Amino acid sequence: MPVLRGISLDIEPGEMVSIVGPSGSGKSTLLYCLSGLEPFESGSVRLVGREVGSLARGALATLRRDHVGFVFQSYNLIPSLTVRQNIALPVLLARRRVSGADVDRALLDVGLSDRGGHRPGQISGGQQQRVALARVLALRPDIVFADEPTGSLDTATGADVLQLLRASADDGRSVVVVTHDLEAASLADRVLVLRDGLIHGELRAPTPERVLEAIALAGGTS
Ligand SMILES: Nc1ncnc2c1ncn2[C@@H]1O[C@H](COP(=O)(O)OP(=O)(O)O)[C@@H](O)[C@H]1O
Ligand SMILES: [Mg+2]
Repeated sequence: MPVLRGISLDIEPGEMVSIVGPSGSGKSTLLYCLSGLEPFESGSVRLVGREVGSLARGALATLRRDHVGFVFQSYNLIPSLTVRQNIALPVLLARRRVSGADVDRALLDVGLSDRGGHRPGQISGGQQQRVALARVLALRPDIVFADEPTGSLDTATGADVLQLLRASADDGRSVVVVTHDLEAASLADRVLVLRDGLIHGELRAPTPERVLEAIALAGGTS
């Protein structure tokens, strides 16, 4: 049986969408397919106007590099590099010109201007996830995907990270975030409830109470 079925979804610039649903419902797979990380057998995904399935591997890599950011639950920072170096590295790898000012800006955006010289092991988990987000934002993506970015953080710290994603959407990006946190999910313009690979429900102008209700209706805890 296909992991995802009958999903139709448009995400606008400036829009934040959150995805909730039970474990195994296909949330990560959906993010991977939408972001071009995982190939799919049928259906169509258009990213910034380009049909993902029809792109050669190199063209897809370029499209992803230039337009897509991905934040994972594990921060994936390089322990031996400083915070500044961690933020600058992907931009360098992408052969983009990165100025010290760009890195400063990214650090400022995530509230870590005073931590640039630290190594990941010297800062908290929440700060490490903010560095991971700065690393994505420094590439100026049009779309940011985040798969349970607060899954390893306490509620208050996680809320900070989600607020940054919200701000990123308010800046004109598209943001798609998988989260188990009802408050966090409610920061989005739209919440999708996934179950068994299907969009089981969709909420606009969500509140935590309504998200909880929708998850209950879908027949599972998130
Ligand atoms: N690469 C894969 N090949 C086949 N099945 C997969 C693969 N990755 C995940 N699955 C299956 O797809 C379903 C959805 O998984 P996943 O997207 O990780 O769900 P979630 O993120 O909501 O927990 C699960 O049943 C999982 O076992
Ligand atoms: Mg998952």
